[in-house]
Amino acid sequence: MSTNILSTTLTLPNGQQIPNRIAKAAMTEGLADLRAYPSPELNRLYKHWAGSGCGVLITGNVQVDRLHLERPGNVVIDCEPDAQMHAALAAWATAAKAEGAKTWMQISHAGRQTQAVVNPHPKAPSAIALGLPGKTFGVPVALTEAEIFDLIERFAVASLAAKNADFDGVQIHAAHGYLLSSFLNPRANIRADQWGGSLENRARMLLAVVDAVRAKTGADFTVTVKLNSADFQQGGFSFAECKQVVKWLEKHRVDLIEISGGNYEQARMMDMDGMDAPDMGELRPSTVAREAYFADFAAELREVVTVPLMVTGGFRSATAMARAISDDGISMIGIGRPLCVDQHCIAELLAGGRPVLGQYEKVLRLGPGVFGPHSRFNIFKMLNGFGATYWFYQQFRRIGAGQPIDMKLGVFSALIMETLAQIKWLRAAKKAAN
Ligand SMILES: Cc1cc2nc3c(=O)[nH]c(=O)nc-3n(C[C@H](O)[C@H](O)[C@H](O)COP(=O)(O)O)c2cc1C
Repeated sequence: MSTNILSTTLTLPNGQQIPNRIAKAAMTEGLADLRAYPSPELNRLYKHWAGSGCGVLITGNVQVDRLHLERPGNVVIDCEPDAQMHAALAAWATAAKAEGAKTWMQISHAGRQTQAVVNPHPKAPSAIALGLPGKTFGVPVALTEAEIFDLIERFAVASLAAKNADFDGVQIHAAHGYLLSSFLNPRANIRADQWGGSLENRARMLLAVVDAVRAKTGADFTVTVKLNSADFQQGGFSFAECKQVVKWLEKHRVDLIEISGGNYEQARMMDMDGMDAPDMGELRPSTVAREAYFADFAAELREVVTVPLMVTGGFRSATAMARAISDDGISMIGIGRPLCVDQHCIAELLAGGRPVLGQYEKVLRLGPGVFGPHSRFNIFKMLNGFGATYWFYQQFRRIGAGQPIDMKLGVFSALIMETLAQIKWLRAAKKAAN
């Protein structure tokens, strides 16, 4: 099968042209300075990815509230940037765009998935704690309506800051269990007001954020959303509900929707075992197969909307990527982990020199490898989840410091080193703020 289709230009509804069909998916970098501004290390990481061959680079999640970090070291835009912050954001955009890729900033609020070391009582739709073992995450406090309106405005302010700093677009993060995703999830949102209950009410905050961002940034700016196909939990956000939400998002004039799935309790986005048995009624062949976990969902969504769809998770072969575009009508493919170990892999894949990104299989299997792939114990499943990402975070730190990637790094060592690095950052940032 020809894979030339991957190199074709994509034109979004707002007219933005993407040079090809591969996006670097959002990956939290943790490299902000102690003020939570983009740092020289972060810029070095994006210079490293600028020539990756991807048509779009989507940043890791930038937070709209410094009390709700997804992890220590997130960039935060929680008010109109001062001149220094604006300059730091602009330098980040310049680094990412140095070789012609478009760059979108992912904007998020971590909600109840904020670790207790950052905030023991984070804000969330309802006071329902994550179903994870131990005390890593605290019991959240339900947001008031006034706080909900304030947060909607913050997403808009952060998006305008991104536009003013010359980012080409934003991605509103409504997947993976963070605040906007948890509003959609009936297990996490039991509110009795206009923000909870029916799907219309649970989707109200996401749609209000989309409208506020569009109003602030204008018709030409690229506004995209990352959404779960499903939470894959009994009683969670379902695929039937996702189908409805994408129809609403299309009406609210988003330029692209990225499809993913899962949350901290059920880490399907990384193809990992969750705390609950997955809702089998929700699984599709592509969520069971190793490659392209959510491709079948995106293909079904294609039948109900015309807005461009991107699908991320598990894609490793050029053929599977090309098939998703030519047969399933998907517009873009998101790639995460392979780009952490080889920034040239996409350029080589597009040039036809690398049909499969699978030479990194060993690394990509490291995630479930700390305590065995299918541990019976939830505490080990949780540590596996952390280990799966902390290995990559350590590589980001190395690249940011100008050091080579360490393929020999053990997952357990990465878990310890990264935990210590995050605690150190948090302490230093708190000290600097006082
Ligand atoms: C190190 C790391 C950090 C991530 N950070 C984010 C993030 O900030 N926002 C997000 O939406 N997804 C994040 N993800 C999920 C990825 O965007 C992507 O959905 C996932 O890695 C599956 O794609 P892949 O199989 O190509 O790696 C992260 C994944 C990894 C490995």
